[in-house]
Amino acid sequence: RIAYVNGRYVPHAQAQVHIEDRGYQFADGVYEVCEILKGRLVDRRLHMDRLERSLRELSITPPMSRLALGMVLDEVVVRNRVREGFVYLQITRGVARRDHAFPTADIRPAVVATVRSISREKNEHTAEEGISVITMPDNRWERVDIKTVGLLPNAIAKTKAREAGAKEAWLVDADGFVTEGASTTAWIVTQDGVLVTRPNGTGILPGITRMTATRVAEREGIRVEERKFTVDEAKRAREAFSTGATTIITPIVEIDGSPVANGKPGSIAMRLRAAFHEVAE
Ligand code: PDD
Repeated sequence: RIAYVNGRYVPHAQAQVHIEDRGYQFADGVYEVCEILKGRLVDRRLHMDRLERSLRELSITPPMSRLALGMVLDEVVVRNRVREGFVYLQITRGVARRDHAFPTADIRPAVVATVRSISREKNEHTAEEGISVITMPDNRWERVDIKTVGLLPNAIAKTKAREAGAKEAWLVDADGFVTEGASTTAWIVTQDGVLVTRPNGTGILPGITRMTATRVAEREGIRVEERKFTVDEAKRAREAFSTGATTIITPIVEIDGSPVANGKPGSIAMRLRAAFHEVAE
C-alpha cells in the first residue's frame, strides 16, 4: 500500500508525520472521506467544496490548489489499484512548537492521503441485514459542521455501540432530538412515507451522502422534510437509515433494542440505495 505524505508517495508502513504536528497535539486539522467506485471518486466536487470550507473556518491556508489536490488523490487511487473503496485525505495546520494559540508565522500544512479497498459484497450484505443503533447524549462541541480530526466523542460513542452489539450510535441533543450518528447522517421515514432528516447547521456535519440522497429521493418522487426528530419518533417510524461515504445508505432495523417497524430493512431505504450511484457524480 502506498500513502501520500507531504509531497511524497511512500509505502504505507513507512508513512510518518512529525511529533510536533498540530494535528497530533491539538486535533488541529480537517479531513475528508470519499467513496471510490470503478476507480473514480464519487461526488468529488462536493467533497472538495466541504474540505475548502472546513479549512476556511479554521483559517488553515489550503496547501495546494484544488486541481493539485485532486491529482494527488487520483494518484494514490491509481498507485494502489483501488477500484472500490474510499480515499482518506487529512490536512493539519502543520508543525510548530507546542503552544495552544495558532502560530502567527506561516507554517506549511501537512497533507496525508491514503486509500482502502472495501468489499462491495460485504457492504451489500450489511445493508440487506440492516444494522442496530444505540442512542446517547451528544456531548461534542458546537462546531461539528467543521470536519475536524477531533473525533474522540465519536470514537467513544462507536465503542459503546460496539459493546452493546450495535453498529452505530445516534447522538441526541439536550432537547431529546437526534443530531446525527457518530459517523453517519441519521434519517427516518414517517408512516406517510416522508423522509425526515435534521436540517444542516452547526450541530451536524453537512453530509455529502445526505445531499446526494436528497437528490435521489427527489428523482424517485419521495418527499424529504428537513426537521428535527426525537428518539421516540424514530422508534415509531416506518423506517430508519443512515447515510455516509463509506456505507452509502444502510437501513437501521433496531434502536436501543426495539425493532423499527417489523425489524427488517425498509423498502424506501433500499430503493434509495439501489438508485444512489445513478445520481451521484
Ligand atoms: N464520516 N456525520 C458525521 C459525524 C460523520 O463523520 C460523517 C462522515 C457523516 C456523513 O457524511 P458524508 O455523507 O459526507 O460521508 C455524518 C466519515 C465517513 C468518517 O469519519 O469516516
